[in-house]
Amino acid sequence: MGILEAGSPYQSPLKEKRIMNFFEYRGQELYCEDIPVQKIAEKVGTPFYLYSASTIERHFNVFSEAFAQVHHLVCYSVKANSNLAVLKLLGEMGAGADIVSGGELFRALRAGIPGERIVFSGVGKRVDEISDALAAGVLMFNVESREELFTINETAGQMGRRAPIALRVNPDVDPKTHPYISTGMKKNKFGIPISEALLLYREAVELEWIEVVGVDCHIGSQLTTSEPFAEAVTRLMGLVREMEAEGIPVRYFDVGGGLGIVYNEEEPPLPANYAEAIIDALGAGDRILILEPGRVIVGNAGILVTRTLYNKRGATKNFIIVDAGMNDLIRPSLYDAYQEVVPVVKKDREQTVVDVVGPICESTDFLARDHKLPAMAPGELLAVLSAGAYGFPMASQYNSRPRVPEVMVKGDRYEVIRERESYEDLVRGEKFF
Ligand code: LLP
Repeated sequence: MGILEAGSPYQSPLKEKRIMNFFEYRGQELYCEDIPVQKIAEKVGTPFYLYSASTIERHFNVFSEAFAQVHHLVCYSVKANSNLAVLKLLGEMGAGADIVSGGELFRALRAGIPGERIVFSGVGKRVDEISDALAAGVLMFNVESREELFTINETAGQMGRRAPIALRVNPDVDPKTHPYISTGMKKNKFGIPISEALLLYREAVELEWIEVVGVDCHIGSQLTTSEPFAEAVTRLMGLVREMEAEGIPVRYFDVGGGLGIVYNEEEPPLPANYAEAIIDALGAGDRILILEPGRVIVGNAGILVTRTLYNKRGATKNFIIVDAGMNDLIRPSLYDAYQEVVPVVKKDREQTVVDVVGPICESTDFLARDHKLPAMAPGELLAVLSAGAYGFPMASQYNSRPRVPEVMVKGDRYEVIRERESYEDLVRGEKFF
């Protein structure tokens, strides 16, 4: 599989247009936009995350344009990649933000995304986070439980500011994705059961400091078909009709995020098809559609660059030991997720089946298993593709490994947008007792 195919969330089944992201081989060398990846590695060291600004822009535009026929707001899901430079880039293109914590609110505001374009999701909002969000004038809170609704009402009352809310409704739809990233089924902790939502909305409209403005759902992540989205919207529309019949206003209809990307051989719908499915299910009405995409915007706009340390022959397997580990990119370990790994400079060598593993003291510390790769000599670089979403934000310092830098490229220019942490950073705030 070529790199363009591997890296393209928008690869058309009709194959009309191939160049969907800006990572490609020119000759033997992997480029990010107009810069050889190897050149950046020489300057910043390894491992590091590398993002293509033009790819992020392109993905955002393709996604947003898919909904051009309806009044909509794309609230980028900050958790997917929360670097300030990424948020600023998207904010300047008109994106809002979907946040799930005070920290994400802080980041979104710092990056210049105004409160009125921010939706606050998440099952466990603390009072201080709620009041910060009220002070910022967020567009709405996506409320996940009755107790949370009452806490928001009370906090809003103390501040003398009404809180705009939607209920996050759990529509009980199977998104047919990995169980760890399914969120809209009865057994999940998320949302309010659809059967109870109307009753809670009736209570909500009676609360003095609550203003009901919408409905919300989010059924899961990395979905590769449109049907579950359409099914969720259809179920929520049943609720919306009941609400409107009772005079409960629904200005915003938030369908969450979840559109999948190509990591390997998935065939997720194109944004245009995804949009069509949602818009059809919504039907007529002048509600404003809110989308919360994360992965589809940034996933294939980033790679993790790592260096070969050693080769090792095990009794039954061969390993390439690299300088990035599960603390830098946890998706393979946590979800058994597939991430494509390719040499940064193509090798004319025989391919063998190997596990690409990190230096961490855990058997789950792998980036790829049973992967076909050419022999790699110590010092040679590998790129882990599709690492722009849920890569750096899920990184930790486990094994006392400083977190790696993030670099952004635009055309022939690059910038370190987060510095490599130092050993001093590792112990910052610690004290002897
Ligand atoms: N909105 C809400 C309320 C969410 O919980 C999420 C993701 C999104 C939007 C964005 O979903 P996306 O468009 O990125 O699928 N760490 C996992 C993914 C966890 C997703 C959590 N929620 C992974 O690496 O696959």
